[in-house]
Amino acid sequence: MTARRILVTSALPYANGHIHLGHLVEYIQTDIWVRFQKLRGNRCIYICADDTHGTAIMIRARQEGRSEEALIADMRESHLGDFAAFGVEFDNYGSTNSEHNRRLCHQIWSKLRDADLIAEKDVTQLYDPKAETFLADRFVKGTCPKCQASDQYGDNCDKCGATYTPADLINPVSALSGATPELRTAKHLFVQIEKLHDWLNEWTQSGQHLQDEVANYLKGHFLCDPLRDWDVSRPAPYFGFEIPDSPGNYWYVWFDAPIGYIGSTAEWCEKHGETLDDWWACGPEAESRGAEIHHFIGKDITYFHTLFWPAMLKKADFRQPDRVHIHGFLTVDGEKMSKTKGTFIQAATYAKHLEPAYLRYYYASKLGARLDDLDLNLEEFATKVNSDLVGKVVNLASRTARFVEAVGLSSVYPDDGGMFAEAAAQAETIAAAYDGCDYNGAMRLIMGLADRANRYVDEKAPWTLRKDPAKASEVQDVCSVTLNLFRQIVVYLAPVLPKLVQQTERLLQQPIQNWNDSQTPLVGTGVAKFEHLMQRVELAQVQAMIEDGIQAAPETTPVAAAALNQWNDGPEALAAEPLVAEHCTIDDFVKVDLRVARVVAANEVVGADKLLQLTLSLGGEGTRNVFAGIKSAYKPEDLVGRLVILCANLAPRKMKFGISEGMVLAAGAGGKEIFLLNPDTGAKPGHRVH
Ligand code: MSP
Ligand code: ZN
Repeated sequence: MTARRILVTSALPYANGHIHLGHLVEYIQTDIWVRFQKLRGNRCIYICADDTHGTAIMIRARQEGRSEEALIADMRESHLGDFAAFGVEFDNYGSTNSEHNRRLCHQIWSKLRDADLIAEKDVTQLYDPKAETFLADRFVKGTCPKCQASDQYGDNCDKCGATYTPADLINPVSALSGATPELRTAKHLFVQIEKLHDWLNEWTQSGQHLQDEVANYLKGHFLCDPLRDWDVSRPAPYFGFEIPDSPGNYWYVWFDAPIGYIGSTAEWCEKHGETLDDWWACGPEAESRGAEIHHFIGKDITYFHTLFWPAMLKKADFRQPDRVHIHGFLTVDGEKMSKTKGTFIQAATYAKHLEPAYLRYYYASKLGARLDDLDLNLEEFATKVNSDLVGKVVNLASRTARFVEAVGLSSVYPDDGGMFAEAAAQAETIAAAYDGCDYNGAMRLIMGLADRANRYVDEKAPWTLRKDPAKASEVQDVCSVTLNLFRQIVVYLAPVLPKLVQQTERLLQQPIQNWNDSQTPLVGTGVAKFEHLMQRVELAQVQAMIEDGIQAAPETTPVAAAALNQWNDGPEALAAEPLVAEHCTIDDFVKVDLRVARVVAANEVVGADKLLQLTLSLGGEGTRNVFAGIKSAYKPEDLVGRLVILCANLAPRKMKFGISEGMVLAAGAGGKEIFLLNPDTGAKPGHRVH
């Protein structure tokens, strides 16, 4: 069999968040496939990169008061650390914000222009005049035009499921700045992908490149109608690459992101003295070199990878993917990952409490070739790891290795009733399961072998035989058989459990480098002093991880120390009132109706030494009377005219001096230290605070 040349990618993770257990479904799935191919002797390179461009990263960098470059550099470190912890080993990890990528974007763009695929159209979009940026749909919030539910995103309503454009929202508000967005029209550039409709029909439906369910989905949802033009440009300000023949416009992040696969390959080629053509060229000459391209992605980004991307590659004369492997989404205990339930678990949080190899095995045991979602059931996770890895696999070595430390393995492989040979004969079946991404099938076959090997040790009971000195050579034979069966299983599990491979290499003093190491037993070799291989998982550890997940701060990177220091903020204020309140849900929070209000009158209250009486206007419905305990810090005349924040649905309260119809919000410790909250300029009485 000649070796295949295979280029493998995982989707490029966004540089605006940390890696979590959902991402790891993909990176672990891909890493297993890559390790498998390498073990089979194929030439395989695993290419990935950070996806660094777009509005979200621009905004986050602004909020953190630093450059996008600084933000993405930090996030890169974080991602690389997480991947290393989970044994995900890339051959190259690039960045979409690289010169290679820029050059390739230029090249592909000019090919698309030459092919007459680019059209120019006006797009009217909501613009945030305060943040000075156009707003992507998810950065606009407002009231649903259908069901009037408040606080809905710009493209669809959580409550009634209606879909609409952000311009249809009632009282739209920019989630970035709180400003009221305005409609602005700008020129955008589009790829007319409909011109490739016939070719895409053929490519997607050939049965070669996609799982059947994906091909059917594309046929039923997209290819049945004309394909809509794809908007690939964004006006400034935008963090990305400027379009050379359209100054002031930038490529939309989804244009340059997949090109990042090629950009990262270019970086690898440079380091290894190869050329891009060795991997990405198309045409008859390239066919003869026979490189394959395999993308692994999640189902949410199917559209980009199965329609736009192949079409772009086709027109730009690059090789199109041989296969796009698409997986489902991770749920935890049957539900979507949730920050409040602590099940939105970051890779780093997991690794703090539990061994990464366990997750690799658990995912492998759950992953099939289809797109079904995959559930991380925490109890099953513990049971499976304990019974399969610790109870069945590692147990083979821990019950026998010590007995042959001194003598090593028998110099002739003993009669084992044909067990090793039968398990060796399963190599191709197990390999086919890996190659077809049916890891679940592979794990079942391998655990079947482990069951059998355990029955053998149980029957032979070397720990009993040992008591009779006359049976020393029988003990050596039984242990030699068991350790060879163990090693054979470790070879089959090698793509999933690289660390166990290393431990086994040390224990049995022979390298494991090839799938064929499963075919011949070791004879006459030494056995090292036994060291513990794997610990059981305790439910308490899983529990501790979940609790940690609940505490973990939401998706933020540490602000650069320099940025923090420049304001001389000390810890005293927080220490005076530590963060101890229980979590509240968003539903709890929206029960409190906070409004911008104008102080139209303010007076002292006769007989009250702490209170001021405020008359507040919400613009519309008359005025409110509120007694506020702020006299120690504010003079009435200084308050008239200013905007405050009012809790508008606090139940009215009868006081000695009259009825108080709400509460104004203030920060501080009391006394002179009371600071009224006020909104930024532009806010109007009546605006709701979200
Ligand atoms: N940046 C884009 C991909 C660009 S590829 C040219 C992106 N990034 S992502 O960080 O959101 O996701 C990276 C990969 O992780 C995607 O394939 C996505 O499907 C996968 N997953 C993210 N969350 C996931 C789960 N909860 N479960 C399974 N896979 C998930 O998309
Ligand atoms: Zn609605």
